[in-house]
Amino acid sequence: MALLAWFAVNRRDLPWRRSRDPYQILVSEVMLQQTQVERVLPYYDAFLTRFPDVQTLASASTADVIKAWAGLGYNRRAVNLQRTAQYVVANLGGTFPADVEALRRLPGIGPYTAGAIACFAFERDVAFADTNIRRVLHRVFVGVDVPRPTAGDREISAIAEAAVPAGNGWTWNQALMEFGALQCTARKPACVICPLQSACRAFPAVLSALGELPRGVRLKREEPFAGSNRFYRGRVLAALRDHADDAIALTDLGPRVRDDFTPHHLPWLYDVVQGLERDGLALVAEDSTTYDTGQDTPLLGSQRVRLP
Ligand code: ADE
Repeated sequence: MALLAWFAVNRRDLPWRRSRDPYQILVSEVMLQQTQVERVLPYYDAFLTRFPDVQTLASASTADVIKAWAGLGYNRRAVNLQRTAQYVVANLGGTFPADVEALRRLPGIGPYTAGAIACFAFERDVAFADTNIRRVLHRVFVGVDVPRPTAGDREISAIAEAAVPAGNGWTWNQALMEFGALQCTARKPACVICPLQSACRAFPAVLSALGELPRGVRLKREEPFAGSNRFYRGRVLAALRDHADDAIALTDLGPRVRDDFTPHHLPWLYDVVQGLERDGLALVAEDSTTYDTGQDTPLLGSQRVRLP
């Protein structure tokens, strides 16, 4: 799947991704609940040096735990974390349960954290959703989430459950989180370089907005002829003639037509090839192998062009 391929290339080397110790995973998840990864990193290492296992944390003075937390904020998280540790030591012999329902019964552990521990420590194929995961799933499977999401938490949970690939839940959920943190961000999603474009239900809306190019992005106007569509029609025909296969995707055609090609140019390139088609010089067809989003807007990335 495209998301897993993206993750293989873009994943950050984070210390909790190297661990399968449920105590360490719990500490990381509690710290990450309201705090950015970069800020958590030094605290995570320092906390585990000071409290290396669940027994040490359970028997520490609460004042020491709060001191180790100082600067991270939301100090109630530290107190709750220690309560969880004390419960596990007192009632479970210091051993964390592996399944979601049992984890859910521990004090201080909500549905998200229970799912995250079952998945990230015990590699269970379970679904759970934080803000990032919810946003990514909404955009890909439901549609745009602004001004507000159109699907509720129940629908997103059902989608999350259905999406977890058997035997690969750990990687899948880490990938969803990473994708939400780095690529499909809340305010500035990098849709124009997104590998999920052809599968994403939100992307057609992004493309139609790109029809008017985003502010700051301007198609360069060189000398009159070089900047004109007549010039580019010639370049497209030359590229089609030189292309060995019979059809070429717009995304592959673009860079052969102009050096400064970016996905922002896709709507423009689509116009150019449609003009050629009207004049009987090219044929344009949607690649039928790409995922059908059931929406009317053409998926420009999956349009293929060839000589007639
Ligand atoms: N936020 C919460 N859990 C995370 C994880 N495992 N990796 C990155 N960010 C996270």
